[in-house]
Amino acid sequence: MRLISGIQPTSAITLGNYLGALKNFVKLQDELTDVDILVFIADLHAITVPQDKIALKKNIKSLAALYLACGLDPEKVHIFIQSEVPAHNQLGWIMECNGYIGELERMTQFKDKKVKQVAGVSAGLLTYPSLMAADILLYDADLVPVGLDQKQHLELTRNLAERFNSKYGETFKIPEPFIPKVGEKIMSLTDPTKKMSKSDENPKSSIFLLDDINVIKKKIKSAVTDSEASIKYDVEHKPGISNLMTIYACISKQSIQEIEEKYKASTYAEFKEDLAEIVASEIEPIQKKYNALIQSKELDIILDQGRDYANFLAQRKITKIYQKIGIGRKR
Ligand code: AQP
Repeated sequence: MRLISGIQPTSAITLGNYLGALKNFVKLQDELTDVDILVFIADLHAITVPQDKIALKKNIKSLAALYLACGLDPEKVHIFIQSEVPAHNQLGWIMECNGYIGELERMTQFKDKKVKQVAGVSAGLLTYPSLMAADILLYDADLVPVGLDQKQHLELTRNLAERFNSKYGETFKIPEPFIPKVGEKIMSLTDPTKKMSKSDENPKSSIFLLDDINVIKKKIKSAVTDSEASIKYDVEHKPGISNLMTIYACISKQSIQEIEEKYKASTYAEFKEDLAEIVASEIEPIQKKYNALIQSKELDIILDQGRDYANFLAQRKITKIYQKIGIGRKR
């Protein structure tokens, strides 16, 4: 069985990326045996919207260090940088030719992101899901751990794979999403009807794993709730407190019911105080490990090994795909 997933190095990652995706990679790594896991840094995806080149370079290395600091074990997981495996682009192009503009235009992420682009909408923002399909199909992955926002892209990946298979014969495995039951969509702290996002313009909306611990606590304490002052899980009517309870549940491993029971006589301020401590105690050790890793040579060695392994698998697959389609000279 093989698993693959990636995160874009668009900035330091958020608590949403951590709880929705990264923490699950670690959980699966620890629970599953006989599994091949690949986790990459999606730097090619990052440039679908404008990036500052110095910040991007820094974020790529920083994400690699965060993967390890959050618990990915290089003995069990192959970590690599997407742009260092050219077959992602090669298959990405084939997936673009195998998909339709109409289906790409229907993607929620494209619709949300395109309205935010002041300097024009790149073609890459539209074709992003074709590259994402390539990222997954190249490795015949069985399972893709992602947050809820990526479910639609994964469905498209499945459709593209099925379309290709029926046109050219059995080529790709049809991957399944792995979406956590709790934490699948962590919401913004300032507008809990919106997803917490790395690229949110308001820094108070998102907790970044590399934020100062006191800043993290402050962000939690000033998170938007409601005027009812009862700690009850009700996403529709009380999205703010429900989101905070979800964060609490993900980290403490207590159920929502247990949390409701525990805090039935508490104020929002008391609950937030506890949550701030819980989040801080989850993130503090990650930051310590990160600080030790970020300047280390170990990081480059791990990324080199990951690149070589991914290239070995990807090159073999892309050669077969070219043959199936009839491009190039090799038969
Ligand atoms: N708020 C979230 N709650 C749960 N999971 C989330 N993910 C993202 N936001 C949340 C999951 O994190 C993984 C990496 O996401 P990505 O970097 O590929 O891009 P994204 O989904 O577009 O994440 P962001 O944070 O919103 O980044 P920007 O602002 O750069 O677009 C994915 O598995 C995603 O589901």
